[in-house]
Amino acid sequence: MRLIRTENYAEMSLEAGKIIVEKIRTNPSLTLGLATGSTPKGLYDYLIQDHEQNGTTYKQVKSVNLDEYIGLQTQNPNSYHYFMRQNLFNHLDISENHTHIPNGSARDLEQECLRYEQLIRELGGVDLQILGIGQNGHIGFNEPGTSFSSRTHIVTLAENTREANSRFFNSLEEVPTHAITMGIASILGSKEILLLVSGEKKAEALLKFMNGEISEDFPASALKHHENVTVIADRDALKYI
Ligand code: PGA
Repeated sequence: MRLIRTENYAEMSLEAGKIIVEKIRTNPSLTLGLATGSTPKGLYDYLIQDHEQNGTTYKQVKSVNLDEYIGLQTQNPNSYHYFMRQNLFNHLDISENHTHIPNGSARDLEQECLRYEQLIRELGGVDLQILGIGQNGHIGFNEPGTSFSSRTHIVTLAENTREANSRFFNSLEEVPTHAITMGIASILGSKEILLLVSGEKKAEALLKFMNGEISEDFPASALKHHENVTVIADRDALKYI
């Protein structure tokens, strides 16, 4: 595992952005694994700016998102479909039919999970997966206790995850209780993983990730089984390391 120490959120985003742009320039038809939340927003701003200024093209790039809430339509501003359009896709030349996000409004959700796994296989797997980490160690929406052999599946969100995410909603009640997420085994199938960690709120989780045991009680610890993981963290997140 490689650790890149950065000063702050802006530098973390810049370092991650440089790595991704380099990869796309080397392999213009890369399949990117994408994440939502506050962590990757600065990285997405960097990719947009680079696209505008340096012309990096996404015409052949494919993307696969980690997860989506169940029960929110794609037009709902809190859906991850909406987040990705607003924060990245609308500002790049990526083709809409190359962008993939689990459908949390599918009539048959079990079938949707199978479809998503099949899709990832058909794309030849994810080349580079971007990940954040939850305060409870979740990756994607894989909450503590998730099997390391899990594939795309339906999850009940942990209460602390709903509380953490309620900042985007009008109230805690509005936060969905379930989601579809790529599983731990699906994530570990990526050829390369970039884990971004920023801020003091994540310092304990990062400490546990770096120094703790490998256990299903702490989903991110599964990443230690992967041979190509780069952690990019800022000074506040590295407080205890
Ligand atoms: P955040 O979420 O980037 O909004 O902190 C990360 C996560 O919960 O995985």
